[in-house]
Amino acid sequence: MKTKLLSALLSAAMVATLLVGCGGSSSTPASGSASSSSDGGKIGISMPTQSLERWNRDGSYLDQQFKSAGFETVLTYSDNDSGRQVNDIQNMLADGVDLLIISAIDGEALNTAMNEAAEAGVPVIAYDRLIMNDAVSYYVSFDNYTVGKLQGQFIEKTLDLSNAGDKVYNLEITAGDPADNNAGYFYNGAMDVLNPYIEAGTLNVVSGQTDFDTVATNQWSTDTALERAQNVLSSYYADGTQLDVWLCSNDSTALGVAQAVTSDYAGSNSVLITGQDGDEANLKNIVDGIQTMTVYKNVSNESIVTLALAKAIMAGETIDESLIPSFGIDCAYDVESYETSAGNKCPSFLLVPSVITKDNLQELVDTGLYTMGDDGYLSAAQ
Ligand code: BGC
Repeated sequence: MKTKLLSALLSAAMVATLLVGCGGSSSTPASGSASSSSDGGKIGISMPTQSLERWNRDGSYLDQQFKSAGFETVLTYSDNDSGRQVNDIQNMLADGVDLLIISAIDGEALNTAMNEAAEAGVPVIAYDRLIMNDAVSYYVSFDNYTVGKLQGQFIEKTLDLSNAGDKVYNLEITAGDPADNNAGYFYNGAMDVLNPYIEAGTLNVVSGQTDFDTVATNQWSTDTALERAQNVLSSYYADGTQLDVWLCSNDSTALGVAQAVTSDYAGSNSVLITGQDGDEANLKNIVDGIQTMTVYKNVSNESIVTLALAKAIMAGETIDESLIPSFGIDCAYDVESYETSAGNKCPSFLLVPSVITKDNLQELVDTGLYTMGDDGYLSAAQ
């Protein structure tokens, strides 16, 4: 039987540091016996779904990283069903995992499992998406507000909005899943750039649909985004009104919007469509001029940071910005931006996103994570 990592080797002080959640409240140390320092330990990795491309990559990178570092892993995907994710995490706890890495389907719906993790003294790293529970020890993600800001700034720069004069550009907006804490950050980051132009009349949202709840997309579904885009196009653009830009928070929604624009838009201009992630189908659309940009997030690096953080947590090391040089990855330590409950800040390691267009696809190839075929399309390297 695998023994617990958290116990005799750690001093009481170390255990206290390690088990302090985002809320600053400490929880009971894990029961179970000491492990030798050479024991790896067991890591529970709970991913949301295999239906969205990136989580397959995250799950497999995390799994590989932890296995090559000598850990045992349990990896689950919960099919975008948060009840099932609670179950999956409970099973991991029953299985004696020493640390949990969780990307939540619904950041508000994991309390039962999180409270059990706290009772068992199992540290939790919220991975990419924050969980609204103080049992979360640390958060690893990208700078989510900056993701949205990069999309907004791309639109601003490409259309030269600050010099637009009397020119008016028509814009539509598709945001992410309201259950995903990230979705609001992406939306706000972009809208903080675009709102002044909407207020000045340089950008005109013809449908009038601007508020987050109206433009949100449950579960980031491509089909839902497609359906809404078709409705917007048939209701507001069928008379030949020109559509210039469609702000999409990520690639799965951009895929649906691009499909609607390709098949249902009456105009002939190319519509600027934003995205996020670098999913293969979207990179193909970028090559083909159907999507204009994506905000790339290197999730292999996200898994490397997560492994380094998990090791530091389990070794009882001090967790702060002094860890960053050992990651070898550009990243910020942020203790202000994220809260797991009102007033309870969650220490976060935030990686840096970047803009990809058809002009710098080579940068993705240079990461070693993609290859470019003779046709110019990119595929994930295996
Ligand atoms: C992630 C995005 C992703 C979206 C849908 C978000 O939480 O940060 O990278 O596109 O979920 O999977």
